Amino acid sequence: MSKTVEIIIDNKSYTFPVIEGSEKELAIDISDLREKTGYITLDIGYKNTGATKSAITYLDGDNGILHYRGYPIEELAEKSNFLEVAYLLIFGKLPTKSEFDKWNADITRRTMVHEDIKKILDGFPSTSHPMGVLSSLFCAQTAFYPESLNPNRPADGVYLSIIRSLAKMPTFAAWAYKNAVGHPVNYPDNKLDYTSRFLKMMFAMPGEDYEVNPVIANALDKLLILHADHEQNCSTSTVRIVGSSKASIYSSISAGINALWGPLHGGANQEVIVMLENIRNDGGNIDKWIAKAKDKNDPFRLMGFGHRVYKNFDPRAKIIKKAADSVLRDLGVQDPVLDIAMKLEEIALKDSYFVERKLYPNVDFYSGIIYRALGIPVDMFTVMFAMGRLPGWIAQWMEMRNNNEPIGRPRQIYTGEVSKPYVPIYER
Ligand code: CMC
Repeated sequence: MSKTVEIIIDNKSYTFPVIEGSEKELAIDISDLREKTGYITLDIGYKNTGATKSAITYLDGDNGILHYRGYPIEELAEKSNFLEVAYLLIFGKLPTKSEFDKWNADITRRTMVHEDIKKILDGFPSTSHPMGVLSSLFCAQTAFYPESLNPNRPADGVYLSIIRSLAKMPTFAAWAYKNAVGHPVNYPDNKLDYTSRFLKMMFAMPGEDYEVNPVIANALDKLLILHADHEQNCSTSTVRIVGSSKASIYSSISAGINALWGPLHGGANQEVIVMLENIRNDGGNIDKWIAKAKDKNDPFRLMGFGHRVYKNFDPRAKIIKKAADSVLRDLGVQDPVLDIAMKLEEIALKDSYFVERKLYPNVDFYSGIIYRALGIPVDMFTVMFAMGRLPGWIAQWMEMRNNNEPIGRPRQIYTGEVSKPYVPIYER
């Protein structure tokens, strides 16, 4: 017999079904709670609320497990490449050789962006944060491909939007950087693979014979894989909820880029480096900064620590820490903030404040150190996260569309003034 849950309100009993996921995780299905009882649930920040059923990513925060479509993240990071992982997330299976070749060719053919996009880019001052530029350029695709606004597009039209999104993202990202440094943009070199193409657009100077360093390209590709999806996080939920209104894929993803930007989400990788630099410039007194993070009257938090779902360790952080060591060694880079990061981690992991609250280093703690070693400027860190997360956003948008999910529309408990008559201004 399937499991149920009984809720008793005012001595009246109501029964609700229990839903079990494929990895045995459990939920109480309260879809008809309000209809049956007149009550809603209140869960600010959605800490206990499942917003959807999803077959894309499995995450077990207590045991530090992360799978994309059933494949452990550790194996994908070691053996796969970013475009293959993108295919896996979006289509639910690993591609055959011929499927991958077509996928890669379809994306590579569409890396150019309309020249008029450059006019939009030119309108941004060089003080613009690249995340703002990226989300604007991404959304601007709705103007260049107006057919994408049709919510009932056939599958081949949706496919075209997907490959355009993946193809143009590195071009937008590199151009957002070029705008920030006031340099002319580079065009995509389609002889290169996805990650190397991005690096060349970022770093090649006019007239230079730019050679992509394979150590850098491999490390970046691995980082993109580690960021590719993370189930119903803030930006992904944003993409799904915007998409649920049948807004276009481009505007849904542009909204996701904006959600990712904040320092509590993707913006944390930038904040980690700022924090480590501050600690270094302040004389490297780690105990002082740990005390600040614990002080409830001080707004300072240890950036790159803690996670809404990982309460043991973040498996991505483990892989990234190892990668940071080898990238720095291979490139012969000595970064003093790496020592500070390692000491900070060691001290925090022994401190009862962090232990009791189950606060461990997350994916962002070491990713910034690798980005720095790869020569990527701090303002671009969150853009790198967005490039990595793009396949996840697309896969989640597709799943929501294919499942024909209803518009996302939470309820609330109203705590404002109760009904009262309007008072004319001369009587107040
Ligand atoms: N430093 C100090 N204290 C912390 C930290 C931190 N980094 N994170 C959480 N706490 C404390 C918090 O003050 C609270 O203490 P108390 O119970 O005494 O009030 C307790 O731990 C629980 O924190 P919370 O804010 O209720 O937890 P949450 O699940 O709402 O927040 C988080 C998760 C990631 C927003 C938070 O841990 C945080 O702000 N971390 C720093 C920012 C960061 O690294 N973000 C990147 C997340 S990973 C990348 C991504 O997926 O976006």
